[in-house]
Amino acid sequence: NLKLVTCTAPVNIAVIKYWGKRDEDLVLPINSSLSVTLHQDQLKTTTTVASSRSLKEDRIWLNGKEENINLPRLQSCLREIRRLARKRRSSGDGGAESSGLAHKVHICSVNNFPTAAGLASSAAGYACLVYALARLYGLEAELSEVARLGSGSACRSVYGGFVQWLMGEREDGKDSVAEQVEAESHWPELRVLILVVSAERKLVGSTAGMQTSVETSPLLKFKKPLVVPAHPPVEGHCVVLDEFARRAANTFGKAIALGSSCLLTTHYNISVTNECSVKTTISLVNLNRNANNKVAYTFDAGPNAVIYTLQQHLEQFVELLKHFFPPETNGEQFVKGLPVRPAS
Ligand code: DP6
Repeated sequence: NLKLVTCTAPVNIAVIKYWGKRDEDLVLPINSSLSVTLHQDQLKTTTTVASSRSLKEDRIWLNGKEENINLPRLQSCLREIRRLARKRRSSGDGGAESSGLAHKVHICSVNNFPTAAGLASSAAGYACLVYALARLYGLEAELSEVARLGSGSACRSVYGGFVQWLMGEREDGKDSVAEQVEAESHWPELRVLILVVSAERKLVGSTAGMQTSVETSPLLKFKKPLVVPAHPPVEGHCVVLDEFARRAANTFGKAIALGSSCLLTTHYNISVTNECSVKTTISLVNLNRNANNKVAYTFDAGPNAVIYTLQQHLEQFVELLKHFFPPETNGEQFVKGLPVRPAS
């Protein structure tokens, strides 16, 4: 009676950031966001779930170490998947597939990249967990809503390509779901570089960081997306931003400025983005000038820069990075990513 399912899910990097909740329990955002899901082979979580009559309790291991299964977000996901599976079985179309619902599960999850270093590990992690559990229970349902309960950004990793998370308006969050806006084939020349300058865990997690932003950032006080110029003034002309703007009706261009202004106007920004990311930003602005503004960049809640560029500029830009980044910043650790298909 042992059932085993293994799935992988990639990380996604937002270009219009989610940074602030209107409901902490249901994980409902204060604005819609837009992201690119990276190539499955690059930054991914692999999760195996096992269920059997002989298992005594639900348990979870993360990167080989047992973690607390009673985390509220984790419990929300488990509860919701089981509820949906039960509902499906009682409506008669679940059949034998959904049997085993009363059994406990063991979950084993591994990231092939630094965990909690601001590289969207919770996005890949919860998307993968929810997808694997759904497969275990034979559940075919819209899963972004469940993944959202684990970590907001996880709802976007359920899909490949270019994905938006609609903030929704309903209080119960039923309309706060992700959807693919463009397939992975939409922009084949786009390349994403992750510049790992620190693999250490973030000092402040996203959940706490965004709470502080909502309380202290003058830009987030309005509780609605800000309209900012498509081209950050300090950077002038940038070919990738131009292209983003052209392809996504300016939204990507706006995003990059929005992301940095929200993070940098937060009182605790020195912990969330930290000194290392401030230095990296300054270096990148200079570097991009040297590269004739061929790249756009963004940060999540950590010091590691994410660079968007096009295939034809990749080699030259990587050469510049290697040349200008001081060795002590580990500037030579790059991971290349591409938009991909949904978790499978
Ligand atoms: C900066 O999804 O990790 O990466 O919902 O509290 O788990 P919680 O936060 P999380 O926040 C991600 C923040 C971000 C921006 C983004 O991915 O949109």
